[in-house]
Amino acid sequence: MKYRRFGRMGWMVSELGYGMWGMAGWSGSDDAESLASLQRSVDLGCNFFDTAWAYGEGHSEKLLGKLVRANPSKRLYVATKIPPKNMQWPSRREYTLDDCFPPEHVAEYVHASLRNLGLEQIDLIQFHTWEDAWIQSDKWLKGLDEFRRQGLIQAVGISINRWESWNGLQAVRTGLVDAVQAIYNIFDQSPEDELFPACKEKDVAVIARVPFDEGALTGTLTKGSRWPVGDWRNSYFVPENLNATVDRVEAIKAVVPVGTTLAETALRFILMNPAVSVTIPGMRKIRNLEANVTASEAGPLDPELYSQLRKHRWDRTPTAWSQ
Ligand SMILES: NC(=O)c1ccc[n+]([C@@H]2O[C@H](COP(=O)([O-])OP(=O)(O)OC[C@H]3O[C@@H](n4cnc5c(N)ncnc54)[C@H](OP(=O)(O)O)[C@@H]3O)[C@@H](O)[C@H]2O)c1
Repeated sequence: MKYRRFGRMGWMVSELGYGMWGMAGWSGSDDAESLASLQRSVDLGCNFFDTAWAYGEGHSEKLLGKLVRANPSKRLYVATKIPPKNMQWPSRREYTLDDCFPPEHVAEYVHASLRNLGLEQIDLIQFHTWEDAWIQSDKWLKGLDEFRRQGLIQAVGISINRWESWNGLQAVRTGLVDAVQAIYNIFDQSPEDELFPACKEKDVAVIARVPFDEGALTGTLTKGSRWPVGDWRNSYFVPENLNATVDRVEAIKAVVPVGTTLAETALRFILMNPAVSVTIPGMRKIRNLEANVTASEAGPLDPELYSQLRKHRWDRTPTAWSQ
């Protein structure tokens, strides 16, 4: 496992971190299997874990707390998120700061997450939705300095809406956030345009999330893929999206060298960018975790393959189904 500096916080985090949404919200999750994968990840050198109160209303946070307590000799970095008060994802331009993150709500959920985790400190607290217009008010910061002083949190971050990498630039440029979390993968390369350079200038850490475009860039989906009722992927991979995605994934598969997998290639693509501090695949199954760790060990992609993959950039704009 290779490690990278987490922006101005200076933490050395595993470049392959762990995304913990699926294990507390997607169909087919099994706590025993998820905990075994989490422990295996620690044994293989992962030390950065991304969860949220919203992932099973604290369930994912509780799993992470168990993991941290079971590994007292390891420095494991805990990142969680405060849900917006209106419980709406993604945020929309008309939502106000008071709708989403009034100070008393922020305080309530910092404490709720600490309770779920069963820990005394959260390394990184993130706003689970974000509108850059909110930067004009200092209300969202109210209380956070006090939490820092009390040692309840160390760093503050924002999670940027899908396909809106511009919608966090001001937060970065003001220097008020320590980390941003944005979708970045073979399809979604737009953070390279403005967000990553701004992060570099301000020494803000970058968490590259959804490295497989919700599983598509592992090459396992077909135009017939469906999930059990209630699984949110049915509402993201609507036919319009699924069909177009599968066609594009097939085109990428054609350039993936024999002997490597699309999943590994997708992760190595992300890790090629030095602006990325950590990428956080969701991986409930040990075999997926073990396969993904090899992406860090495999190192940089062949330059010719990398330039081929860059051509698969897919700029999309938010839709009714994109969430
Ligand atoms: N607004 C936000 O802040 C926000 C939104 C979305 C996601 N996130 C964060 O980003 C993380 C990652 O995104 P995600 O989990 O939504 O999607 P993702 O990482 O793009 O894809 C996860 C899917 O890929 C599968 N997978 C992983 N490794 C694989 C491999 N080597 N081969 C085949 N399949 C593999 C997983 O299967 P198994 O799980 O069955 O192993 C799971 O179905 C989340 O867990 C969460 O922490 C944050």
